[in-house]
Amino acid sequence: MFDARVAGRMRFGCGVSASVGEVVRSLGADRAVLVTDSTMESLGVADRICSYLEGAGVEPFVFAGVEPEPSVETTDAVAELAREHDCQAVVGLGGGSCLDVAKAVSVLITNEGSAARYQGLGLVRNPGVPKVMIPTTAGTGSEVTFTAVLIRKSDGFKGGINDEKLFPDVSLLDPELTVTMPPAVTASTGMDALVHALEAFSGRSASPFSDMFAREAMRLIGSSIRTATWNGRDLRARSDMLLGSYYGGVALANAGVGACHSLAYPLGGMFGVGHGCANALLIPYVARHNAVACVDRYAEAYGLLGGASDGWPRREAAFALAELLEELVMDLELPCRLSELKAGIEERHFDEMADRAMAVARPMENNPRVMDKRACVAIYKEAY
Ligand SMILES: [Fe+2]
Repeated sequence: MFDARVAGRMRFGCGVSASVGEVVRSLGADRAVLVTDSTMESLGVADRICSYLEGAGVEPFVFAGVEPEPSVETTDAVAELAREHDCQAVVGLGGGSCLDVAKAVSVLITNEGSAARYQGLGLVRNPGVPKVMIPTTAGTGSEVTFTAVLIRKSDGFKGGINDEKLFPDVSLLDPELTVTMPPAVTASTGMDALVHALEAFSGRSASPFSDMFAREAMRLIGSSIRTATWNGRDLRARSDMLLGSYYGGVALANAGVGACHSLAYPLGGMFGVGHGCANALLIPYVARHNAVACVDRYAEAYGLLGGASDGWPRREAAFALAELLEELVMDLELPCRLSELKAGIEERHFDEMADRAMAVARPMENNPRVMDKRACVAIYKEAY
């Protein structure tokens, strides 16, 4: 038995972001809040999206102040702006942070109080206003998931609003919007997408449906992430990454992620390390730990990611996956060690980090190998 779900409608192709005006209009809105960040504003992309909206008779209200690790406080401020202007739709434009805030704002317009009230699972009461997502990075999968991860500035707690009412209505996947992404962002967000696919594929909740998306995500990302990172104008590689990231998001939305995501959370919450960067750094160590528990799945993932294992025993291919991931992280020039991050992480922090990671329970429980606090500390030590 398994459930399957794909959020809303998706349009893919170069230039599809130009249809945002008609799309928002077709959802019945003539006033929309555009949630984005300073990068999209300075590149002129936010203005372009506004002109598409105006062209279809939709009045846009822009908030361009989403931070890299978005906060509850920022989200509340955008919701306030949207309520003030009576916005009937939300457009998210940018990386996962912008999309997460946009999704949360959609339900805050129709539900009382701060976003902090809804951090958890299934706590949102009323459906939100329609939401349209335009990702400009290829990684988080936020355009197709029901989660918005927010940090509470007051205590550093990082937690998701997880609710079906956060599923986007429409995602516009326009590879042209991703060509300006710098190498480091392409690499770290792309690795996040790859980890979504791998963790969904090897997790305990994997289904034939999620597998289909996870396999194709790994194949697309594995074959394109280096080119997209080091030759960002290659539209073929950019297209593969954007579609791969979407497929990874579908896999994640249906089968969840694993221990790598739990272990990455405290790196963001306590030390401000970016989500993709944290996952990329940890995945080789988590894979080494997990391999014994999911030999067949890892052996297959090794092949999907381009590892040649003809005639190898599957166990060997499964363990080779960790090496392959490590080489990939090095080729992408992402940090491979916690001590390299210069984020102030020291061995004395591992105990608290492990506690916080174990508290991110759902991915831990979905991990192919049973995890406990000792295993978390051991992985942090290995990665140090
Ligand atoms: Fe992720």
